Amino acid sequence: MRMYDIIMKKRDGGILSKEEIDFFVRGYTGEDIPDYQVSALLMAIYFNGMNKEEILNLTMAMAESGNTLDLSAINGIKADKHSTGGVGDKTSLVLGPMVAALGVKMAKMSGRGLGHTGGTIDKLESFPGFSTEISTDRFIDNVNNIGLAITGQTGNLAPADKKLYALRDVTATVDNIPLIASSIMSKKLAAGADAIVLDVKTGSGAFMKTEEDAFELAKTMVDIGNGAGRNTIGVVSEMDQPLGFAVGNILEVIEAVDTLKGKGPKDLEELCIVLGTYILIATGTAKDEAEAETMLRGVIESGAALDKFKEFVAAQGGDVSMVEDMSSTLECKYVEEITAPVSGYVTHIQSDAIGLAAMVLGGGRETKESVIDLSVGIVINKKVGDYVEVGESLATMYSNDVKKSEDARKRVIAAYEFSDEKPEVKPLIKGVVK
Ligand code: URA
Repeated sequence: MRMYDIIMKKRDGGILSKEEIDFFVRGYTGEDIPDYQVSALLMAIYFNGMNKEEILNLTMAMAESGNTLDLSAINGIKADKHSTGGVGDKTSLVLGPMVAALGVKMAKMSGRGLGHTGGTIDKLESFPGFSTEISTDRFIDNVNNIGLAITGQTGNLAPADKKLYALRDVTATVDNIPLIASSIMSKKLAAGADAIVLDVKTGSGAFMKTEEDAFELAKTMVDIGNGAGRNTIGVVSEMDQPLGFAVGNILEVIEAVDTLKGKGPKDLEELCIVLGTYILIATGTAKDEAEAETMLRGVIESGAALDKFKEFVAAQGGDVSMVEDMSSTLECKYVEEITAPVSGYVTHIQSDAIGLAAMVLGGGRETKESVIDLSVGIVINKKVGDYVEVGESLATMYSNDVKKSEDARKRVIAAYEFSDEKPEVKPLIKGVVK
C-alpha cells in the first residue's frame, strides 16, 4: 500500500477502506509517513468529506493508536461527558456530583484551558492540594467508592490525534466536521466509558457558529459512539453568551458550588439537569426524562450532590474546608465594576471576547506553558434580554494588575451589544440527538 495512492483516491472523491485508513494512521503515528503527505490527505478530506464508515474507521484507528483506559474493574456502567468547549462552562463540576449521588459511575478525563476557553482541571486546582495526576488504580478505586473521579489526559492516549491535530492546526484543516468528530471521539473511546453524553455548543463562543453545523457535528459524533458500541447521546446547547455569570477559575468554582446548593444561575442549572437526564437514561439509572429530572432535582434539594462534591474533592487531595463559605477563596487586589456606556437592552454578548478578557487578566493560557492566576476573572451582571441604564454595572472584574484591567475592561464593553428593543431570548437547549 502507498500513501500516494490513498491521497489520490481521496482527492478524486473516493471512499477509503479500513485498511487504507489504518495504514495512514499507523504510518503517521510511527513516523513512517511524512507531514507533507498527511497534510495533502487532510486537505483532500476537508474538501471531499468522509462517509459514516470512513469516519468510524478513522476514529477507531486513532483511538487504538496508543494506550486505552481499561475501566473493567469499575462495577456497573461507566459514564463520561464531553463539552465541545465554551465560556463560563463549569457544568462538569456540578453534573459529576449530581449523577454520582444517584449511583452513576462517572469516570471523567478532562483538560486544561487554552485561549478563551477554560478547563475543568484548572478550576479544580482552586482547592489547595487537589490533584488530577492520580494513578489509574486510584482513579478506578475512587470511581468505585465515590462514583466520581476526574483525571488529566494521560500521556499516550490517542497519540495519532495529538499529531494530526497539531498538523491540522497549521494546515487550515481544523474546522471540518469529520475531522473534529473523529478527533474528539477517539479520545472519548480511548478513555473507556460505556455511556457518553456530548454537549455540542453553538453560537459566537463555540466552534460551531451555526445550529445546522452543531447538529451535524452532534449526529456525526453520536453515530461514531453508537457505532463503536458505546451508548451515546448528544445535546446541542446555546453558547451565544457565557454560561452562568462567572468566567474565571475560582469564580466559576464558587458558582458551581452555589448551583450544587440550589442557588446557581438558571441557565447553568438547566443545562446540568438536561445533560444529567441523558446520563441517567444512557446508564439505565432512570427510565425516562421525567423520572430523571425529579431524581436530579432531588439530590440538589437534599444536599446529596453537594456532599458528593466534597467527598470527590477530598478523595483527590483537595481541601474542602472553604466549600461552606467560598467567598474566603477570593483574594484579588482589585474588584471593579465595568459600567454600561449606553442605556438599552442587552441583545448579545460575544462569549469568546469575555473569555479573552478573563484570559488577559491572567485567568487563561496564551500558550500551553502559561501559568494562570486562578483568582481573576469576570462576573457578568447583565445578560441577554436584561435592561441596563448608562453607568450601571454590566460586569464585575476581579484583577491583580491595573494595566491588564484596562485591557479587559475594553474587551468586556466591546463584547456587549445594546438595542432600544427587547430582544427575543433564545432557548438554551436547541435539541437532542440520539
Ligand atoms: N477538540 C478536539 O479535541 N478536536 C478537534 O478537532 C476540535 C476540538
